[in-house]
Amino acid sequence: MEKRIAVLPGDGIGKEVVQGAIEVLKAVGERYNHQFSFAFAEIGGSAYDSTGVPLPEETIKICKESDAVLLGAVGGPKYDTVPVHLRPEQGLLQIRKALNLFANLRPTTYFASLADSSPLRKEIIEGVDMLMVRELTGGIYFGQPRERREVNGKEAVVDTLYYERDEIERVIRQAFELAKTRKKKVTSVDKANVLESSRLWREVAVEISKDYPEITLEHMLVDNGAMQLVRNPKQFDVVVTENMFGDILSDEASVLTGSLGMLPSASISEEGPYLYEPIHGSAPDIAGKNIANPLATILSAAMMLKVSFGLDEEAAAIEKAVNSVLDAGFRTGDIMSEGKTQVSTTEMTEEVKKAL
Ligand code: NAD
Ligand code: IPM
Ligand code: MN
Repeated sequence: MEKRIAVLPGDGIGKEVVQGAIEVLKAVGERYNHQFSFAFAEIGGSAYDSTGVPLPEETIKICKESDAVLLGAVGGPKYDTVPVHLRPEQGLLQIRKALNLFANLRPTTYFASLADSSPLRKEIIEGVDMLMVRELTGGIYFGQPRERREVNGKEAVVDTLYYERDEIERVIRQAFELAKTRKKKVTSVDKANVLESSRLWREVAVEISKDYPEITLEHMLVDNGAMQLVRNPKQFDVVVTENMFGDILSDEASVLTGSLGMLPSASISEEGPYLYEPIHGSAPDIAGKNIANPLATILSAAMMLKVSFGLDEEAAAIEKAVNSVLDAGFRTGDIMSEGKTQVSTTEMTEEVKKAL
């Protein structure tokens, strides 16, 4: 199989973890006889530095001409004073919009050998297998107006949470489709006791559920959801929620696995190409030290093989390699525990390649 992958390393540890995923993809290519080619493009702060904008047209073009996109992370304190519309994060939001990536799939799975890395007790996290489906191109991230203004001589500010029914429908339908292949339960998380947008969200969820009689739909208010996620995470199968709730809850969910550095994601659209990225950010506190955990990005590459290319066996091989490296006791700093072997980003990548 021949596939072209657009690679957008971005900033901070984004560059380091993406390198790990590329090496693992190359190793898979060699072993299974696939030709993966990599087209590099700029995004985020590094794009701003070299071109003056966080998402150059050239990057969008390279992505659209590719079969899939692999992204690291964007952002950093260096850009805190950059005008809002040129901030690195805008590059990420714009590429999601440009590729119409309306659903962001963020799986949280239990890694038996990482049980000690989570602050939660083993009996709470053991066997967790959930999939968060986060709406990604709407809601308060994109609604207009969003600005500072003066009202009656006072400083004021507005952000807008805007959704059209279609946008809610397509992401909820996607969640139901995914639940069909899993434990057949959808938890729709909202704030319907306060927000009008959530009341429409809930209404749409009920309507769509009628097309899926085999799937159980449950509604949960987001504040309770945040609590249930750490109290009894095993109750969840597919969780579907709006953009900002999903952003917050998925970072929280990563604690179930032991680290933010373990959670991959796939962002999908109607037309493709899809985009794959770890859920974490550029981690300025550890950037440039070769200590970041590359596994979230390596597992994102596995999602790419499976979801975009239909290479289930190859994807499973990566997941198996990751598990065996963890079983063998190799740990980056974020998942380190007593008696294990601490390794760097590049060493972890090497171990995964060896295990393949
Ligand atoms: P972050 O996700 O970058 O880091 C949060 C904490 O987790 C830090 O202590 C970091 O060291 C740790 N961490 C994250 N990934 C890790 C990994 N792979 N291995 C080991 N430790 C890891 O979030 P933040 O610090 O709030 O944000 C930093 C910057 O990243 C900001 O500019 C933010 O806007 C940006 N950000 C970007 C993305 C993205 O590109 N998708 C996501 C989140 C944050
Ligand atoms: C993520 C990040 C982004 C988001 C930021 C950097 C815009 O936190 O991918 O989860 O909020 O979507
Ligand atoms: Mn986030």
